[in-house]
Amino acid sequence: MVAELRIKNCESSQSYPKLITINIYKIQQGPALSQSRSLFFIHKNILQQNTKNMDTYKISENGYYGDFGGAYVPEVLYKCIEELKHAYIGLLESDDFQKEYRALLKDYVGRPSPLYEAKRLSNKYNARILLKREDLNHTGAHKINNAIGQVLLAKQMGKTRIIAETGAGQHGVATATVCALMNMPCTIYMGETDIQRQMPNVERMKMLGATVSSVTSGNMTLKDAVNEAIRDWCCHPKDTFYVMGSAVGPHPYPDIVARLQSIISEEIKVQLHDKTGKDHPDYLMACVGGGSNAIGTFYFYLEDTRVKLIAAEAGGQGWNTPFTAATIHSGSVGILHGSKTLVLQTADGQVKEPFSISAGLDYPGIGPVHAHLAQTGRAQVYSINDDEAVRAAYELTRLEGIIPALESAHILAVLPKIKFKKSDVVVLTVSGRGDKDMQTFFKYRDYA
Ligand SMILES: Cc1ncc(COP(=O)(O)O)c(C=O)c1O
Repeated sequence: MVAELRIKNCESSQSYPKLITINIYKIQQGPALSQSRSLFFIHKNILQQNTKNMDTYKISENGYYGDFGGAYVPEVLYKCIEELKHAYIGLLESDDFQKEYRALLKDYVGRPSPLYEAKRLSNKYNARILLKREDLNHTGAHKINNAIGQVLLAKQMGKTRIIAETGAGQHGVATATVCALMNMPCTIYMGETDIQRQMPNVERMKMLGATVSSVTSGNMTLKDAVNEAIRDWCCHPKDTFYVMGSAVGPHPYPDIVARLQSIISEEIKVQLHDKTGKDHPDYLMACVGGGSNAIGTFYFYLEDTRVKLIAAEAGGQGWNTPFTAATIHSGSVGILHGSKTLVLQTADGQVKEPFSISAGLDYPGIGPVHAHLAQTGRAQVYSINDDEAVRAAYELTRLEGIIPALESAHILAVLPKIKFKKSDVVVLTVSGRGDKDMQTFFKYRDYA
C-alpha cells in the first residue's frame, strides 16, 4: 500500500453518497513492452531514422517515464488494470486490429490529415510554418484517433459498455460517435461548468445516443468528470471499459493513448519529407491539456534531438495566480487519477481547482510523459494566458481563414515568443476546430 484514495461507496445508491477510504496499490511489474516495435507497420524505414536509442523518453517496463507514471489504483480496479496491461500491446499490434483501425482512420476519420503550409502566418513569424490539421478530422479534433482505437480494444476484450470523461466535449463526441458506429451503450461524464460552455458538443453527444451525465462536484470541470468516471468504473469493473481521453491515468493508459495518437507523428514524417525534402522539422509545437495531441505529435521525434519540442499549457489568468491550469509551471509531484505526475495542489496535498478559458486544458494534472519531458528539459513548455490564446485564435482566423479550437490557440500564441530563423521549419498541430468555442469567441469580438 502506498497511498490512500477517498472514493465514494458504489454499493449504496445510484448517486454514491457515502465516502469511504480504501487502499490503493502501486502496480510494480508490467509485461515486457516491445518498445522497439512501432505500432504502425507502414513507412517503417522513415520512422526508424534517427531513433536509435528509442527508450530514453518511452515508457519503462513497469509503466514509468523517468520518475513519473505507474498505476496507483483502488483495489477494486486492480484486476481491470492488470487485464488491460497484459492484453493491450498484443491486441494493438495484431493484424486484425491494425486492419480495422487503419481502415476506419482512412475512410471514416478522413486521414491522413493535411499538413498545410501557412504562408501568411509564416511571413508574419519569419519561419516556414506548416499546420498539422487535426481540426479537419471527422468530429473536429484529434480525439477520434484514440476513441476508435480504445473502443476496438474494448470490443476485443469482450466489454459491453463504454464510459468516458470529457472537458471540451471533443473526446465525449468522439467516443459517442464511435459507440454509435459500433452499437455500444455509452455514458459520458462532463462537469456542469463545461456543459454550459460547450453546449453544441453536449447536444451532439445526446443526438449520437450517449447519456451525458452532469457532474456537479468541485468546480465542475474535467478533473471532476474523471473522478465520476472512475467511480462508475469501480462499480462496473466486469462489463465496462473506460475510454480515457488523454495521455493520463494509470499505466497502461498513457501508453495506449500515446500509441493511438502517434498516427499524427507518423504522418508528419512522411508529409514533411514530401513537402520539404527534410526528414525532420526544426520545431514541433502542440498544446498540452493531459497531453494526447502533443505526445501524438512528438512520438517519432522524441529521440531526435535536432527537433525542438515546444508545448503550451493553460496559464489562465497567469501561472503564478490562483486562476491557472499551468501544471508544469506551478505544480508539484503528487498522485492524481492513478498516476504519479505533476499536480496543482496545496501544501497538504489537496488538489487545487484549475482555471482556464479552455475546457480541454482546464485540468490540474498532466500526462506523466510530459512531466518527464519537461523535467529532463527535452520539451520547452510555455504558459499561455487566456487573453493571449483568444488573440492568437483571432490572428489565425484572419491570416489563414482557419478558426482553431481554444485549446489549439494556446500553442499558436507561442509563435511570437520564439525568435525563429528564416530557414526554420516549424510544424504546429492544430488539435481541433473552433466551432464549439463560438460562444466564447463572441465575447471577445474586439480582439479581431
Ligand atoms: C481540440 C482540443 N485540443 C486539445 C485538447 C487537450 O487534450 P490533450 O492534451 O489530450 O490533447 C482538447 C481536450 O479536450 C481538445 O478538445
